Amino acid sequence: MSQVLVASNRGPVSFSLSDDGALTMRRGGGGLVSGLAAVTGGPGRPAREPSADVLWVCAALGEADRAAVRQAPDGRLDEAGHDTGGAAVRMLDIPAATFHRAYNAVANSTLWFVHHLLYDTPRAPHFDARSRRDWQSYEAYNAAFADALARDAAQGAKAAIQDYHLSLAPRMLRDRRPDLKIVHFSHTPWAPPEYYRLLPDDIGAQVLEGILGADHAGFLTERWAMAFLDCCERFLSGVRVDRAARTVTCGGHVTQIGVHGLGIDGESLRRRAAEPDVAARAEALRGQVGDRKLIVRVDRTELSKNIVRGLAAYREMLTNHPEWHGRVVHLAFAYPSRHDLPEYREYTAAVQRMAGQIIDEFGTPDWEPLILQVNDDFPRSLAAYGMADVLLVNPIRDGMNLVAKEGPVLSERGSALVLSREAGAASELAADALIVNPYDVSQTAETLHQALLMPEDERAERCARLAAAATALPPQQWFGDQLAALD
Ligand code: F6P
Repeated sequence: MSQVLVASNRGPVSFSLSDDGALTMRRGGGGLVSGLAAVTGGPGRPAREPSADVLWVCAALGEADRAAVRQAPDGRLDEAGHDTGGAAVRMLDIPAATFHRAYNAVANSTLWFVHHLLYDTPRAPHFDARSRRDWQSYEAYNAAFADALARDAAQGAKAAIQDYHLSLAPRMLRDRRPDLKIVHFSHTPWAPPEYYRLLPDDIGAQVLEGILGADHAGFLTERWAMAFLDCCERFLSGVRVDRAARTVTCGGHVTQIGVHGLGIDGESLRRRAAEPDVAARAEALRGQVGDRKLIVRVDRTELSKNIVRGLAAYREMLTNHPEWHGRVVHLAFAYPSRHDLPEYREYTAAVQRMAGQIIDEFGTPDWEPLILQVNDDFPRSLAAYGMADVLLVNPIRDGMNLVAKEGPVLSERGSALVLSREAGAASELAADALIVNPYDVSQTAETLHQALLMPEDERAERCARLAAAATALPPQQWFGDQLAALD
């Protein structure tokens, strides 16, 4: 029985199977996992002050994870001898078809698209009988989490339920265990009502009511929290939204709405970046880039990250400012993500096509203008942050974006940050970043040029202030504030 429980789709570890059937464990990725692992611990990321008695409940994401669960007593990976970096982890073996429909069809193809405004006319949503079956799987998946949390929670314990995969779980858990204190946290943006209304009415209402089963609903920025309140007001009948008190009352239950920005644990990130594997990657990169200026981007290959427009902006900069030819290199790290979905596979191909065009158009025997890397390599990303003159973060829409925070913290020479106004991080970093409209390729191109020209002392001063802002709300505080809000 645990006093504090965390629930998220992706956990701190996942597994792959080698040809001989052996299981290899690796750390989970993404902002949610990075934030939580700093609190609970995770492989390669011992928690600074390990929180006693936290149990992390997550889903098996594929066949290798399922094999690991089957070998662990009751899904407890830490008790099965896996080095989870101190985290107590229970992995749930949800049937593969249910998981696939809940994660791919509902969470990632529908809710993610709605919150990130990703639908376009040719790919407008199409809700039919099949979507209903997918939705039932999403309900079953949420119920599996609610069951596990209800079973593992001590009397009066606190449960922190994460993200859009688990929007129904708070209410389901409250029904099972009214004694618990529940917080739900959204790591994504929240859609404005005009976009949220794309969802079928009953599904849109169930998502809102599910989250309102929590005592506290947290968001990364004021903007996303206000959009949630707007949707509650617009789509739920019989609820009372009190904007001054920041509460929503639904079926007699009051949910407090909170804003909790998530920043970086600067000390542990710097410690990780000081390890030899990062130095080795830095040396290799220096060999490729030489003494040229360096523009860096680090993303999952994700539609919301706007990588194609970012590359187009670099191309336009090279076209308009030929003085940079031979003097700048763009390192673009675009790591694989969600390749079960055709949209993501197509997007990866589009990124590669655009990169190929730039290399063909501008490359010379002595100058590689763009280096696109698609294999995930965390130490290489850390090395690139250290070397960057300019960091480009231009999402169409993003809950926060931790790359915009990690980069300035690790920058050695003081890098300039070109940042989309649609990233949650812009609400904290706007004073010292160079802010762009992510759809405006020409503006982004010109801003990259200005960033490269920024005097070194100005760049260093801005970067120091960005690093201070990025570390002002470390994950420990982000999580602690949410738990404190339950008292
Ligand atoms: O809310 C965002 C998030 O959950 C982050 O953890 C991360 O950016 C991403 O989504 C991870 O997505 P996935 O688990 O599908 O790779």
